[in-house]
Amino acid sequence: MPAWLSWLFPEQASTLAPKVDYLFLFLILASGAVALLVFLLITIFAVRYRRRSPDEVGADIEGSPMLEIFWTVTPLLIFLAMFVWGAVLYFERSRPPDGAIQIYVVAKQWMWKLQHREGPREINELHVPVGVAVRLVMTSQDVIHSFYVPAFRIKQDVLPGRYTSEWFQATKPGRYHLFCAEYCGSQHSRMKGWVEVMAPADYQNWLDSQRLSEAMVVSGQRLFRSLGCNGCHGPVDTARGPSLFNVYGRAVELQGGGSVIADEGYLRQAILNPGVQVVLGYKPLMPTYQGQLGEDQVTQLIEYMKSLKR
Ligand code: CUA
Repeated sequence: MPAWLSWLFPEQASTLAPKVDYLFLFLILASGAVALLVFLLITIFAVRYRRRSPDEVGADIEGSPMLEIFWTVTPLLIFLAMFVWGAVLYFERSRPPDGAIQIYVVAKQWMWKLQHREGPREINELHVPVGVAVRLVMTSQDVIHSFYVPAFRIKQDVLPGRYTSEWFQATKPGRYHLFCAEYCGSQHSRMKGWVEVMAPADYQNWLDSQRLSEAMVVSGQRLFRSLGCNGCHGPVDTARGPSLFNVYGRAVELQGGGSVIADEGYLRQAILNPGVQVVLGYKPLMPTYQGQLGEDQVTQLIEYMKSLKR
């Protein structure tokens, strides 16, 4: 972003931010140039072709194929450029790079609850390292919220009953506003917080200082046992249930045809609505855990399942 324009935009603090700003600037300049051209031509033509005597009749105009092709193809090319540019950015925004660290976000009226895989929990504050991709897996306990960090140019709705995700890579240490960007009730305007971007060493120190917390995978393992999940889901497939080893990220064949990639959303569904996507070759025996588990417990179970590898 040229310096003389920076006052127009919020601070840029993620890898995505300059790219979003350039696209936005292009859209503004393109729309502005067209609007200016139209108004200019209206003015010029109104003066130049005004009626000079009361009985003047306008000249006949023959069509000009070249002119018509020009004003059809030119906007088409501009719109296609906008589309391709926007789509490329959209795909980049949608796909977190491999090796992104993951953080779970649970929104509720009216706060942001966050949990790191290493265990630390935060409310309305998120500590992350600079220069590292961070993926957020988000859900809501009640109504629709939206996780918005202007300095990172990311905004994603957070929905009850399912996961949505977004990612960012912060480019400079600092403290950045986090807002809820979806009207969610009387305290919506107060549902805000901070993202604290730290140097990697500082981040590690911060993580280490949160000693009382237990890694999510450990909490998940305990839950897995206490709920009796291991009765049916052991290290190998049993008659009652498939093994969950190596399940994360794999394509799972479903009863009734089709398959699904076992991402966080699938695992969540399998815990809360097990009858919806039954694994091929199994009966829908599994009871639902809807109403028995909080969102944070579901994410802990998922973290445990993700750790089951051979
Ligand atoms: Cu949550 Cu607005």
